[in-house]
This record gives sequence, C-alpha cells and structure tokens, in this order.
Amino acid sequence: MKIDRALDSRINEIDFDQISFGSHYSDHMFRSEFTNGKWTNSIIEPFGKIRFSPISLVFHYGQAVFEGMKAYKDKNNEVFLFRPKENFKRINRSAKRLEMPSIPEEIFMNGLKKLIDIDRNWIPKYYGKSLYIRPFLIATNGVLSAKPSKNYMFMIISTPADSYYKYPLKVKIEEKYSRSASGGVGFTKAAGNYASSFYPTRLANENGFDQILWTDSSTHTMIEESGTMNVFFLLKKKLITPKANDNILSGITCKSIIDLAKMDNISVEERDLSVSELIEGLKNGELKEAFGCGTAAVINYFEIINYRKTNFRLPYIPENKRISLRLKKMLLDIQHNLSEDPFRWRMHI
Ligand code: PLP
Ligand code: COI
Repeated sequence: MKIDRALDSRINEIDFDQISFGSHYSDHMFRSEFTNGKWTNSIIEPFGKIRFSPISLVFHYGQAVFEGMKAYKDKNNEVFLFRPKENFKRINRSAKRLEMPSIPEEIFMNGLKKLIDIDRNWIPKYYGKSLYIRPFLIATNGVLSAKPSKNYMFMIISTPADSYYKYPLKVKIEEKYSRSASGGVGFTKAAGNYASSFYPTRLANENGFDQILWTDSSTHTMIEESGTMNVFFLLKKKLITPKANDNILSGITCKSIIDLAKMDNISVEERDLSVSELIEGLKNGELKEAFGCGTAAVINYFEIINYRKTNFRLPYIPENKRISLRLKKMLLDIQHNLSEDPFRWRMHI
C-alpha cells in the first residue's frame, strides 16, 4: 500500500466540543481500484476530490454500497475499532447482491487499520463520541448500457461524530411507502435504499415526525426498522426486535444489544412484531420502552409513535430504570474500553 501523507493537517479547524456529524473529514482517505479482475493501486492519500467518467455506472444505475463503523478512544488515548470484521462481511454481502466484486479481507482491514492509525488524532476523546468511518464501493466505468461495471473503486473516509439523532424521536408507522421489499435489497447497505427513503421521510418530517417506522411492503402490518436504525420494544417485560430478514438490515449494534441484554438476564425475542400488537401495547400500557439503534444513532429512544391519526406517547420511565439507557451504557463502556469485553468485540489499533 502506498502512503502519501498530507503536508498540513486540517485538525485545528474542528472544535471537538461542538462536533456535528459530517461537518469535517479527517486528513486522509484510503482507496483501492478493481480493474481487469484484480484489486490494485491501494493508497492512503490526502482527503480530496476524485475524478470519474460521467458514464461511471454509479451515476446511472446506482451500483454503490457502503458501511458505517466507528473508532473510539479510551482514557489513555488507546484506539479501538468495534467489530470491524462484521462490517467487512456485510459490505461483501451487499456487494454480492449488487453484482459487484468482493473486497479481499486484507485490503479492507489493512486499509482501515492504517487509515485510522494515521488519522488517530481525529478520534474525539470523549465518552459517546467517536470517529465515524465510511467504507464504500462504487462502480467507476460503464458504456451506458444497464449491465454491471467492470471497474470499481473501494474507498474509506472518516468524520468525527457525536450522537446522530439529538433528541428522543417521534416516529410514524408508515403504511404507504416502503423501504424495501421481499427479494429486494433491503438487507444490504445499498446507496439507493437511502435515496428512496428521503422523499417519504421528508413528508413525515413535514407532519412533525423525525423518522419513519417502516412496515413490510406487502401488507404494512409488520414492523421492520426505522430511519437508519433497527428497533427494539420492551413489551410485557420482554425486549422484542424484528428478526432480520431480506427486508431488514442486519445491524451490528442490534446484534450486540441482543447479546448484552441476554448477558444481563433480560428476556429477548427476535421475532415478527405486528403493528396491532404494538398498538395494543401502547394502549394498555404494556409497552414500556421503544428505541432504535445503529452505529451512527447508538441507542435513541422513541417518545412518540404515530399510527394513522393518533400520536401514542410512551410512558415516562425514570432514567435510572430505563433498559435502553442501561444497554447504551454497557455498549459504550465496551466501546471505550471501560469494561471487560466478554465477546471480544474490540480491536486494538
Ligand atoms: N438499519 C439501517 C437501514 C441502517 O442504515 C443502519 C445503520 O447502519 C442500521 C439499521 C443499523 O446497523 P448497524 O448497527 O450495523 O450500524
Ligand atoms: C450508520 O449508522 O452507520 C448509518 O449507516 C447511518 C448513516 C446513513 C448516517
């Protein structure tokens, strides 16, 4: 791998006390090219613009997949990634479904580790803050016909991150639009999944909701996920999350929360959850907590769930009794090397 270091750092432009997601990017980026069936030209270079042909397939047919992961610091400035192999495996599942080449493990992991090592000063040293890392793979050539590209570029960039959603969320159960469909690409981090959610999300925003709570596309009766998060509901003393299927992104945070909750003797069910079961729980008070989770979002609780014309407010639970906050602390403590790592999720850089 070639390393071309930036002559000047831009780190003084950022105020680490006032981070807003995506406002600053670290000094370097990683890229590797896929040409003639081979990965070549891996390089770490200064973050900056790149040039592509206007007929690159990514611009026309959307061959693009990405990942989201984070690097954390502990009290001694040691740096850790959280379950990076899961992101590596998932980007290749996404790539396969979009007929893109898989990224070799050494290219993904070596590029990632070296980039984070070089840009380690960009990782905020505060509990709950981190460096958000964005690996992505795009199709870089084409002949304007709708067939897969022969050339691709894999890149990694990063941005200092605070919490992605600032407040408790008001979510709307969606019955018209869909995020994904059976047999489709909902289980991947395909760029197009996000593009297609923008319009219905704006409509929801205009009606006073922060995010959509997606339901299945064929019947709109089963809960799937919300925004960029998997969802959990504390219903009848059980923590329920819709089981990942081909409509739902299998979240690494979600999988981690399931393991942490089980370790904490909370009863967890990964299963289908219907809108009617949820609404009944909201009406009879048996639904105590609802929250979304994801790499960017961490854990964010829902204060209002809207269904048709009714806004249901979740019951008030004192902070020290909230399971969502307890799980969030368990997760962050592991990520920041403040507690044991029973599942060996941390990777020291
Ligand atoms: N669902 C969607 C649609 C997402 O974009 C994300 C974010 O990555 C998640 C769920 C949560 O996944 P993870 O915990 O791996 O970040
Ligand atoms: C993540 O949590 O990694 C995401 O993908 C969210 C992102 C779309 C901002």
